[in-house]
Formats: sequence, structure tokens, C-alpha cells
Amino acid sequence: MFKLGDFDYHGKTVFLRLDINSPIKNGKIISDARFRAVLPTVIYLLEHGAKLVIGTHQSKPYKGDYITTEEHAAILSRLLGSEVEYVEDIFGKYAREKIKALKPGEVIMLENLRFAAEEVFYRPLEECERTFFVRKLSPLIDYVVNDAFAAAHRSQPSLVGFARLKPMVMGFLMEKEVEALTRAYGTEERPRVYVLGGAKVDDSLRVAENVLRNGKADLILTGGLVGHVFTLAKGFHLGDANLEFMEKKGLLKLVDWAERILDEFYPQVRTPVDFAVDYKGERLEIDLLSDEKRLFDEHPILDIGSRTVEKYREVLMKARIIVANGPMGVFEREEFAVGTVGVFRAIGESSAFSVVGGGHSIASIYQHNITGISHVSTGGGAMLSFFAGEKLPVLEAFRTSYERFKDAIKG
Ligand code: 3PG
Repeated sequence: MFKLGDFDYHGKTVFLRLDINSPIKNGKIISDARFRAVLPTVIYLLEHGAKLVIGTHQSKPYKGDYITTEEHAAILSRLLGSEVEYVEDIFGKYAREKIKALKPGEVIMLENLRFAAEEVFYRPLEECERTFFVRKLSPLIDYVVNDAFAAAHRSQPSLVGFARLKPMVMGFLMEKEVEALTRAYGTEERPRVYVLGGAKVDDSLRVAENVLRNGKADLILTGGLVGHVFTLAKGFHLGDANLEFMEKKGLLKLVDWAERILDEFYPQVRTPVDFAVDYKGERLEIDLLSDEKRLFDEHPILDIGSRTVEKYREVLMKARIIVANGPMGVFEREEFAVGTVGVFRAIGESSAFSVVGGGHSIASIYQHNITGISHVSTGGGAMLSFFAGEKLPVLEAFRTSYERFKDAIKG
């Protein structure tokens, strides 16, 4: 696959696909973690004289965090210390004129790519190649650099559509992510512990199934809604309030699947022994085997309990490899961040080679100054897809592009 150092970018127009899709509160971006992660690639290209056209998506149509990229451009300008001009267009005449007018070392940021209909669908590379987005921009571009690891599981025009038309190059972050995840997945070191939390339960079940079946994991620790589903699959009752919530989220239908995984791998899947609920506005911890668990009928579970954190910590301290994705609870509320922070902190303290991801939840790692994690992945769904053993369309596109251009470049 092509790496950044393979080409000379002086005076060349480079389309740089980033994933700086970020958590939003009251219409404002609240974490610049994904911006910082791609900074080395942006700086490298600018220092090497590229005319830089940056594209990113932010959320999806009709969602609350679906906003323009104006603030993204402002944040990147602040981090770079030089202007990143926000261009309120994607591939229309205005955007194309702006691209043509770029000078070496200058950079623009296109509008949220998902404002374009073609960018919202998942289609094979060949179809992405025929979109207006790719056809209009392709004649203006010399190279495509893709540093959007967090979107590597998406087959969309800006992510894969240029692969057979232009050399598609891995950015520094992409390279680092692929290297770390490949190491964690491919190694024979033991014990290998996976921590699966968060709300992407079906993705996590796919990971659990894959890593257990292929002998990639020795133990799986569960939390968040993944923990709920496995706890139910073990036959524990989690109370009406929690069942209703899970029903609404379409999670109850996944319990059978979790049961099938337990049928084969019961001792390898650990579930929480206690949980924290919101009781009159405060954190209350309840043991799964205690009588107090009737409170689950009226109070939603928002975190794993301290006893679970302690048990998980013991396992993590002995691990050689740790892969963790997703939070243990509603970490956005400080009193329910105990589980997530406790587990992430234990991972940082363990001497294992560790990879932690989970999309927006990694913000909590920075907020709580947790150190010692070998690799903090920017990927949520992309990371899960990787460990589920699936082919990631963006990684496939890099291979396609390399095969297509390697001889032409060498010649
Ligand atoms: C993410 O945050 O997981 C990536 O930005 C991908 O976003 P998506 O799930 O909306 O495609």
C-alpha cells in the first residue's frame, strides 16, 4: 500500500479524506481528539508544498449532531496556527474554483461531505467511482490521501471512489492504526483479553464470535449495553425499566445470539456482578445477587459497579494483550464514568500491549488524563469491524489503488 513518503507533493493538489466527525454538545464540538490525531498528516502535506483539499463527514442527516464543517475548519486552523478556509460547497462550481485557485501550502475544508446525497449510501467501489462527487473532483486532483481510519468500514465515494483513478495513499494515522490493530489481532502472546462495552451490541457480538471461534481471545469482559445483553443471556433479570429501554433500542432480540455464544464459550465471557443506577439523582450500586435488585424495575442501569471494576482490573493486570472498545456506562455523566474510567485506567496500568477505541468514548481517556495505553484508536465501528474479521472497504481500496498504480509510478 502507498505511504506518504512515496510521492512528491510540491505543487500537487491532494484530496485529504479525514474523519474528524466529533462529539457535539449544544451545537458545538466538545473534543478535538480526532483533529489532533490527524495533525501530523496535515502538517506533512503542507510542509511538502501540497495544495490541500480536506473533506470529512460529520454525523448523518437528521441527527442532532449533523452540522456544517465551519467549526471543524476553525479548530484545525487553531491547531495548525494558519488558516484553513471553510468552503461552503462540496463538488459544485464554487468548490471547484476554490480548488483551482489553491497555492502550494494552502488548505481548504469542504462542506460536510454527507450533505451530498451520494455520500450517505454504502456502495461498491465501482459505483462510488461513477458518482458526481468523484467525477467532478477527480480531474482537479493529483493524489488522494486517506487518513480516515474511523470510517474505514464505510464504502462511500470520498472514501473509496478515487482508488482506481488516482494513487490513494495511507496517512500517518491510518498507518499507525492498521499497524497497532494488526499486532493485537495477529499475535500469539497470551492471555489476550477483549473488553466489549458501549451500545454497538451487534457489532460487539460479531467481534466476540470471531475472536473466540478463531482462538484470538482468551477472555471477554463485558460492560455497557453489551454487558446487559450477555447478563440477560446468562438468565439474570435486569428489571422492567431496563428491559423496556433495551426493547426500544431493539437489543432484546440479540439475547438469543448472545446465548448461542455462551453455549459454546460460557467460561470465557465475563459479565458484571454489580451495576450502578440513578437513584434520586445519585449513583447507587446494586449487587446482581442482592434483594435490592428490585430497584432495577424502576431505575435504569447507567454503569457497571465498583466490584465489577475490581474484578475486571485483576484480569487486565495479568493480560499480555488487551483490546477494548466502547464505554462501560453513561460516561458523559461524571458519577457514571466510574466504570469506564476505572477500566481504561486499569488498561493503562497493565503492562499488556493495549488497543482502546470506541468512537466518541475515547474523549474520556483524555478528559481523565489516563496514560499508558499502547494505542488509542480513533475507530469505533471501524475497529469493531476489524476485530470481527471483516474486510474493511477502505483498506481494500488502498490495495486496489496500489495494484493499479505501482508500476506506473516506478516506471
Ligand atoms: C465514527 O464515528 O464511527 C465514524 O466517524 C463513522 O461514522 P458513521 O458510523 O456515521 O459512518
